[in-house]
Amino acid sequence: MAKESILITGACGQIGSELALSLRQKYGNAAVVVSDVRAPQGELAEGPFEKLDVNSEKDFERLYEQYKFTQIYHLAALLSASGEKNPLFTWQLNMNSLLYVLELARQHNIKIYWPSSIAVFGPETPANHTPQHTVITPRTAYGISKLSGEHWCKYYHERYGVDVRSIRYPGLISYKTPAGGGTTDYAVDIYYKAIEEGQYECFLSQDTYLPMMYMPDAIRATLELMEATSERVKNRWAYNLAGLSFCPTQVAAEIQKVIPDFTVTYKPDFRQKIADTWPNSIDDHDAQTDWGWKLEYDLPKMTEDMIKNLRTKLKNKVS
Ligand code: SER
Repeated sequence: MAKESILITGACGQIGSELALSLRQKYGNAAVVVSDVRAPQGELAEGPFEKLDVNSEKDFERLYEQYKFTQIYHLAALLSASGEKNPLFTWQLNMNSLLYVLELARQHNIKIYWPSSIAVFGPETPANHTPQHTVITPRTAYGISKLSGEHWCKYYHERYGVDVRSIRYPGLISYKTPAGGGTTDYAVDIYYKAIEEGQYECFLSQDTYLPMMYMPDAIRATLELMEATSERVKNRWAYNLAGLSFCPTQVAAEIQKVIPDFTVTYKPDFRQKIADTWPNSIDDHDAQTDWGWKLEYDLPKMTEDMIKNLRTKLKNKVS
């Protein structure tokens, strides 16, 4: 295996904190530089860390000179719900940083992973089994930045041969690092509240279906896409990934199988409007045929794993 030098931006976030550990397992701790605006904690701190402001092109160049990266996983971004609080800043942060990364990749032949999202879709998009290629009309600043980013990735690939790969992640569910600032975050919060308080007030309505995925599947998908041979990666915008499709009452019912007294009330807030513009479920036929993607966790299997691991984590926190 060729020697890799890997940078992860936004590495302390929900995806980064788990992806970094998987990459370190594969390539060794020293080969994976985690970067963020805050310092890493726990296991994540056992390896190189660099404070990085992704809004600074100079910072990227300085780090490149130091580490000569061969791969960058550019995860830093503002998500859908927090993005709506400051749309212009969301655009600047999400877009400028991607362009800095793509430019660095063009100049130094770096392989890039950049996440897109179901937020690229809009109310005009077919809501069920949303196809890979369809009407794409985002309504959030985050979604607009992800759609534009997909086009820039494709552009850098076609024009300059940059090896850039991307997935449109559904809402991601994990017991390790909490989600932050997304519309799909309820599907993480609900598990914490079920264990800690036995009740949850949901910010989406009970019948709001959204595409979701358990983090181990999302991490595996990311690594599998990055490891696929170039010829198999036929899509250089971003791949649809289906994952699961459920609404709050369904996840609540699944939790109640383990915690029978758990109750949920519903008080939709501004995030409902965002969720209403997103698909219910996704078609990921292309990911399956191009690079062999296959989902492992369904809702019952994920729920069982989430509750088991969260109980241990929360018990250790108080004792
Ligand atoms: N989980 C993200 C969000 O809710 C979607 O990509 O913003």
